[in-house]
Amino acid sequence: MYKSEKLANNLRLLIENGTWKANEKLPSLRHQAEQSGLSLITVMNAYQELEAQGLIYSKEKSGYFVVAQELSNNEQNQNVTLNPKIEINSTVFQYLKSIQPDHLIPFGTAFPNSQLLYSPKLIQTLGQLARHRLSYEQTPSLPPGHFALRKLIAQRYCMQGIQTDPSDIVITSGGLDALNLSLQAMTKTGDYILLQQTIFYGAWQAAERLGLKVITIPTHPEHGIDLNAFEQAIQKYPIKVCLLMLNCHNPIGFTVKDEIKFQLAKLLHQHEIHLIEDDVYEELYYDQKKPLSMKYFDQQNLVLHCSSFSKTLGAGFRIGWVYAGKFSEHIQHIQLMSTLSVNPFIQNALVEYLSHRHYEKHLKNLRVSLQRSKKQFYQYLKENLPMGCEVEYYPAGYFLWIELPVYIDSTHIYQALLDRNISIAPSILFNANFAKQNNFLRINCSFDFNDRIESALSHVVECIYNAINNNHLR
Ligand SMILES: Cc1ncc(COP(=O)(O)O)c(C=O)c1O
Repeated sequence: MYKSEKLANNLRLLIENGTWKANEKLPSLRHQAEQSGLSLITVMNAYQELEAQGLIYSKEKSGYFVVAQELSNNEQNQNVTLNPKIEINSTVFQYLKSIQPDHLIPFGTAFPNSQLLYSPKLIQTLGQLARHRLSYEQTPSLPPGHFALRKLIAQRYCMQGIQTDPSDIVITSGGLDALNLSLQAMTKTGDYILLQQTIFYGAWQAAERLGLKVITIPTHPEHGIDLNAFEQAIQKYPIKVCLLMLNCHNPIGFTVKDEIKFQLAKLLHQHEIHLIEDDVYEELYYDQKKPLSMKYFDQQNLVLHCSSFSKTLGAGFRIGWVYAGKFSEHIQHIQLMSTLSVNPFIQNALVEYLSHRHYEKHLKNLRVSLQRSKKQFYQYLKENLPMGCEVEYYPAGYFLWIELPVYIDSTHIYQALLDRNISIAPSILFNANFAKQNNFLRINCSFDFNDRIESALSHVVECIYNAINNNHLR
């Protein structure tokens, strides 16, 4: 046994027999090294091992502390997972490169069918503005972004009953930039953040980039978010900020009900924890009413709401925003040192476009098209997937999340389909804990359900059949 393992075992005993109490500070690394005669690195390895086991947690510049035992012994608490070191970026990078080629049927892409985006009216506006030099030469391009655009976005919040001032909004280079800037403003290296176990890979990448420790909670089969696990996680770990998707979740597709959002807001308030809400699919609902964001329930200014025009007008424009409230200034400072300005010409065109209500008309058509395609994809898959596969229909967005039998690794399906010039998104992209749940895949169903698409879907189904049959033959 390594010396560090031996030390970790001794320390674990002290925690388990109550010698060290909940939230008590452990001896510093240096002190422990002196006491035990071990090297600093051995002690550090032992502490990190205990941290990975969920027995102790670290606080920046303060040291290591004992996790509340009654919680770590609690059966339910096994739902709360610590993912101390995130390494997902290379996987995502290789994946995104692999699905670039034009000849692939892009079921793996995160963007809607481009035929449905890039509204002709907006393109026309861009053309008109391009002829006037002033439209790009004289538009202010420093953070927080074009005032008129922020005002129009603020009005959209107000329409949902969320009192908003343009100064609350910072325009960003897409939703991903909004998430990254917000997370950077709220955390330091080594801080704990809370994510859903399955979530958009951009959230995992942001955590990796900033050197954060990630606590995850599972998806609740009925409510989307598991409030019990959430409460346990925030009691057990010193969570600095949560990053969650509650509307039209990517990749799963669910939208959390208002009652649950209300409860979540209460917990955030009680524990004074901030939430970064990723809401880039907020406009792609099929019901009569737009789902509320957590901002609606946020009386204490704890929520930073991130969104963009990427999923409705086109990711190529790279325009997003964060409702940053009191964090606006801090975020602008970081922006000034990184992405600086957001394309002033596109901001100007959006102001023109949004001011004339073209957007509402475009959104209506977009929702109708997405709903039609998603239903057709769903129907096809429901009828043709092998037994043991599940697919749930949620009335929003354009993703279907398919559950395969647990013994199937969706990465193999993805590789087999690439050979047939079809991309899909395997679950390895959405869950940095690779040991868990590799048996899911996401399909983008924003495409017109024509013969070519139907034939590609039949290949997806065939590859799944093959994987299941091969497994039975082993
Ligand atoms: C859930 C989620 N958040 C954020 C983004 C990033 O959006 P944008 O293209 O606006 O940066 C995406 C893009 O796929 C996404 O799916």
